[in-house]
Amino acid sequence: ILSTIISSSPSEVTNSQQFPKAIIIGVKKCGTRALLKFLSVHPAIAASSQEVHFFDTPKNFRLGSDWYRNQMPIATTNQYVTIEKTPHYFIDRHTPKRLAHLLPDVKLILILRDPVIRAISDYVQIKSRHEYYPTFDEFISMKNFTRWTPIKIGCYAIYLRRWLKYFPLERIHFVDGENLIQRPWEELQHVQKFLNISNDIRQENFYFNSNKRGFPCIKQPNGCLGSSKGRQHPFISDITRAKLKNLYSTCNRQFKQLAQINFPWL
Ligand code: A3P
Repeated sequence: ILSTIISSSPSEVTNSQQFPKAIIIGVKKCGTRALLKFLSVHPAIAASSQEVHFFDTPKNFRLGSDWYRNQMPIATTNQYVTIEKTPHYFIDRHTPKRLAHLLPDVKLILILRDPVIRAISDYVQIKSRHEYYPTFDEFISMKNFTRWTPIKIGCYAIYLRRWLKYFPLERIHFVDGENLIQRPWEELQHVQKFLNISNDIRQENFYFNSNKRGFPCIKQPNGCLGSSKGRQHPFISDITRAKLKNLYSTCNRQFKQLAQINFPWL
């Protein structure tokens, strides 16, 4: 065995695919892509470019853990933190148990936004794939609107409760997605601390791009997100907003208690 190791070229010894040390588990439309993009510039991080969908998709899960590891980016020895993001994990029933079984020490990152804005963002994404689609106000005036998935996802407490059956709270880091847009370096500082890596991504690494509707970009080639992120939101009536705010108030209260955090919009 020793002779095999010694005869290997340096790149074979140093570059490898690792199981993730951290996973951005959600929430969809809360800034998961921006967070991963910003983290990926850190020298200690190897970030997977695609959403992996291992734990939540039966055909992938059946392929086993070797398949999962093979989806990870090649990491150099300096990149000792491999990260993937699959926002659907947060709401999937099977993922918490499966993940805890395969990677009991993994760190979880959950980014959240005001659920009213999250719902509008989800709606805008769905609408972009349809030629004719009801307005957001029309959806919210329907009788069973609370059963509509873009509305259900915003009740974060329901899903967090499932995760806490398998992971202690200290292993979950909550990112304020509203602040990631305003002062991304603050959120990045907390995440770097949680991951036990140096505070390399700082305020001076960001700029706000007027071509990108004022969203923050990272100072590097292609440092802004693509056109499917930071879309224009439609006009929403005050009645609809008030209705949703009211709907989410109990969920938000429960979430605050479970997560023991207090973001300004919660
Ligand atoms: P909108 O496109 O509705 O504005 P996700 O990556 O989880 O799908 O989240 C998409 C949302 O990330 C976008 O929703 C946008 O508001 C938000 N976002 C946060 N930081 C961003 C950034 N730097 N550039 C673009 N979008 C960002």
